[in-house]
Amino acid sequence: MTPQNRLITLNNGVQMPILGFGVFQVPQEQTEQVVADALAAGYRSIDTAASYGNEEAVGRAIAKSGIPREDLFVTTKMWIQRTGEDTARREFDTSLQRLGLDYVDLYLIHQPLGDYYSSWRAMEKLYGEGLAKAIGVSNFHTDRLADLVLHNDVTPAVNQIETHPFYQRRADQDLMRQHGVQIESWGPFAEGKNDLFTNPTLAEIGAAHGKSVAQVVLRWLLQRDVVVIPKSVRPDRMAENLDVFDFTLTDDELARIAALDSGQSVFFDHRDPEMVAWLGGRRVD
Ligand SMILES: NC(=O)c1ccc[n+]([C@@H]2O[C@H](COP(=O)([O-])OP(=O)(O)OC[C@H]3O[C@@H](n4cnc5c(N)ncnc54)[C@H](OP(=O)(O)O)[C@@H]3O)[C@@H](O)[C@H]2O)c1
Repeated sequence: MTPQNRLITLNNGVQMPILGFGVFQVPQEQTEQVVADALAAGYRSIDTAASYGNEEAVGRAIAKSGIPREDLFVTTKMWIQRTGEDTARREFDTSLQRLGLDYVDLYLIHQPLGDYYSSWRAMEKLYGEGLAKAIGVSNFHTDRLADLVLHNDVTPAVNQIETHPFYQRRADQDLMRQHGVQIESWGPFAEGKNDLFTNPTLAEIGAAHGKSVAQVVLRWLLQRDVVVIPKSVRPDRMAENLDVFDFTLTDDELARIAALDSGQSVFFDHRDPEMVAWLGGRRVD
């Protein structure tokens, strides 16, 4: 835990750093060094997934870091083809083995597709056995989340969804708050889409604080109590993205950022049947 980071308490009492580090699209051969750099920069929460193909490299970086396990927060995710109660259990065991860990801090259903109700039952057992300290979901729209909560014993601790200035998810966050589900942002910079890093509003607000656009975006999410996991392969940007605890955005600045919301994904719609078919057909080994 770096002194400047902040912990969020999940609905089961588990604490999670509000600012962590994501490794989506970091190639396996680069991931060990990137995670080592991120840990050296001060990150203690790492977000990976079976589908990213880099769990082993994340595990190697953790093992070599010498950082006590209890000081780290490791998240991974189950891919769609592995749903089903028995399959989900095996998929979890494989991820744990690849990571070289005895437990994960957070295990997520990656997509609201396939037989995820069976997977959730397997995950409830993993949680009960202490192999996953918290369990949650990702990419769940509010209707699917509400339904999952209604028909199961354990309420997801987290829903990790696309959240950034162009798709702010305020109604989603309100619904999650009602159910005690923590919102976590993926793609906080919209992966640079819509020219986010040169957006005039964000740049002007940054200039007023001597901060970059990236820092303004992260600060805005932190002030909304959104857990965030920015990705960068560059140590200078890793440090920059951590340096967001020494300034506060004003109400006026928050209102200007709120006006950037388009209410739509800049990537794809999880409710689009073509996307459902594409995601559902994607195989991960
Ligand atoms: N659950 C899901 O379905 C899902 C989907 C997507 C992502 N995620 C998770 O969320 C994490 C973050 O999302 P993301 O990786 O998609 O995108 P992101 O964090 O929004 O953006 C990453 C991009 O921003 C650049 N960048 C990072 N810091 C910067 C800075 N300070 N200044 C300028 N450019 C900067 C990076 O380039 P460099 O690397 O070259 O610095 C990279 O191109 C992922 O790594 C993953 O863990 C989850």
